[in-house]
Amino acid sequence: DKGNYRHFMEKEIYEQPEVVSHTLANYLDFANSKVKEFSLPFDFAKLDRLYVSACGTAYLAGLVGKYWIERYARLPVDIDIASEFRYRELPITKNSAALFISQSGETADTLASLRYCRSEGLPIGAIVNVRESTIARESDAVFPTLAGPEIGVASTKAFTCQLSVLAALAVRAAVARGTVDAAQEAQLVRELSEAPGLAHQVLKLASQIERLARDLSQYKHVLYLGRDTNFPLAMEGALKLKEISYIHAEGYAAGELKHGPIALIDEKMPVIVIAPHDRIFEKTVSNMQEVAARGGKIILITDAKGAAESTVDTLATIVVPDVPEIISPIIYALPIQLLAYYTAVFIGTDVDQPRNLAKSVTVE
Ligand code: M6R
Repeated sequence: DKGNYRHFMEKEIYEQPEVVSHTLANYLDFANSKVKEFSLPFDFAKLDRLYVSACGTAYLAGLVGKYWIERYARLPVDIDIASEFRYRELPITKNSAALFISQSGETADTLASLRYCRSEGLPIGAIVNVRESTIARESDAVFPTLAGPEIGVASTKAFTCQLSVLAALAVRAAVARGTVDAAQEAQLVRELSEAPGLAHQVLKLASQIERLARDLSQYKHVLYLGRDTNFPLAMEGALKLKEISYIHAEGYAAGELKHGPIALIDEKMPVIVIAPHDRIFEKTVSNMQEVAARGGKIILITDAKGAAESTVDTLATIVVPDVPEIISPIIYALPIQLLAYYTAVFIGTDVDQPRNLAKSVTVE
């Protein structure tokens, strides 16, 4: 039931403060500012490597997870697209484990990758939304996302719930490996507890984003740029836009701009830059200057400090509240989902059932 919403996708975008809150609470003890002692199929302290594999949006969640787990827990993470992982005959490191991410728990390539790791004797964890799925059944431990049923083909709330689980796992790994102390653990858990409230605030930007979507719907090509965890988000923004609006979009690491995509820049291809005011903000500003100097139109998604300090003229600036670094990907996911959603609505596509796509890809 869509309730008062026009599409399931819209409803699912708006459910995020609540489902992210439920999901985080499953893994984090907010009262004591600690990560919970949920069961794990391996000991994070003894791992030398974690293999993560998934498809589509779940893969992009995993890519954010890699940045987090490596940053907070100093544990090397190998991340692959499942259709590559299953055939590339990689050498498996000793003392490693595997983690799969899937909303449906039925994606053929992800399941095949899981079975490959099983045959190699790896302990297996899975982040899934559908508890009774094949991937859940075949894993040693399931880390559920409590997103509830996701109907829209474009994944939204499953993505931010996957990020929530990955953030909790990163903190758990960091505690186990001694790379954060009790005070830092408490700080990270407190910061994560702010995610639902901040997500709720970001949803209030919907009417500004809807106006902007009217402009965006006039273009044929869009480029998304971001650095660090905003690089996977740039790819997620592009994936969301292309799958529901059919506008050609690409997501790139901002630093890659001058290695090729800058050749595409002109007034006909807007560039969406996802750049909170973080320690590498200045680097992204210089990428925006390169875009502006070539007549490119910029849509900047940033915070108040980023908006004040960016020296570049933009077509529009979406100002998101200040957020702690660890929850930034969860919060910045919302404006890019809303932008894709409203753009598709203006174009008039079938938002919940885009052409050629299935909700669950159970064949290769
Ligand atoms: O069910 P899964 O999470 O395994 O599905 C993976 C992808 O097929 C899925 O995320 C797809 O990319 C979405 N349509 C993206 O919005």
